Amino acid sequence: MNLFKTLFNMIHRHKKIKEEYDLLAEEEDKQEKSKSLRVEIPREFIEKYIKKTDVVLDAGGGTGVNAILMAEKCKHVTLLDISPKVLEYAKANIAKTILSEKIEIMQGDITHMPQFSGSQFTFLVCVGDSISYVLNKRFDAMKEMMRVLKKNSILILGCDSKLGFIRDYLSKGNLNEAVISMKGNQTCCGMGPKTYAYSIDEMTQLLKQNGCEIIEIASTPTFTDTLSPEIKNKYKNEQWSKLKKLEMELCVKPELLGVGSHLLFVARKC
Ligand SMILES: C[S@@+](CC[C@H](N)C(=O)[O-])C[C@H]1O[C@@H](n2cnc3c(N)ncnc32)[C@H](O)[C@@H]1O
Repeated sequence: MNLFKTLFNMIHRHKKIKEEYDLLAEEEDKQEKSKSLRVEIPREFIEKYIKKTDVVLDAGGGTGVNAILMAEKCKHVTLLDISPKVLEYAKANIAKTILSEKIEIMQGDITHMPQFSGSQFTFLVCVGDSISYVLNKRFDAMKEMMRVLKKNSILILGCDSKLGFIRDYLSKGNLNEAVISMKGNQTCCGMGPKTYAYSIDEMTQLLKQNGCEIIEIASTPTFTDTLSPEIKNKYKNEQWSKLKKLEMELCVKPELLGVGSHLLFVARKC
């Protein structure tokens, strides 16, 4: 009976996230193309680690902006996403480039990737919080990602941050949510679907238990996440570049890692 219930919840959850992202597809495409440090900082880390010879899996890859960026710098990219609607945007975005030959688009779920063989990829990117949206299936997702990644290869993983969410709750005057979040595991609603926010220790452990060594941890972004939209909008052109440069320096400071609402982990499969 329990097994039946677990299976039901699993299928239900898969369907729900797919439906939610089908509805959010247009907004997701806008977000990926927007001037935002939440999407730009992970890209800086991707560019720092990707190699010409890499065969990349972009897991939960969205509408393809990261896949296009990576295809310019590596051998091949497979973009996997759960939402057919999101993938329609990805297809259209990729068709506008000369990189179609280098990018394969697939619908699929990061928690179960039988379409890929073991050690098929040499670089794995899972940024933008899919590992948070899978909630309790995060252990399966991590296991699957490790299975398809070749030994000594790099994984770049982005997730929602427990401390960042607490800061955000407090900034909105929501003390109760902040206290509850501090005590327990994090299953909460941010702007999008239900999500699981990680503490730095928790994600570090999950990665280590799955045979990874941590290379870098960043808060993406750090202080910009705490600014009001009015202040953020003041930073344009050169000022924007200056802010981004400053954030790139701040985002890896160990004493500030919990400030932003997202965390980024760069790890190597040992
Ligand atoms: C916030 S978007 C991030 C997109 C892109 N990686 C980026 O950082 O710009 C999250 C994406 O993950 C996808 N997603 C969520 N859960 C997933 C799962 N279990 N398997 C595959 N994709 C998933 C969603 O459909 C959505 O396109």
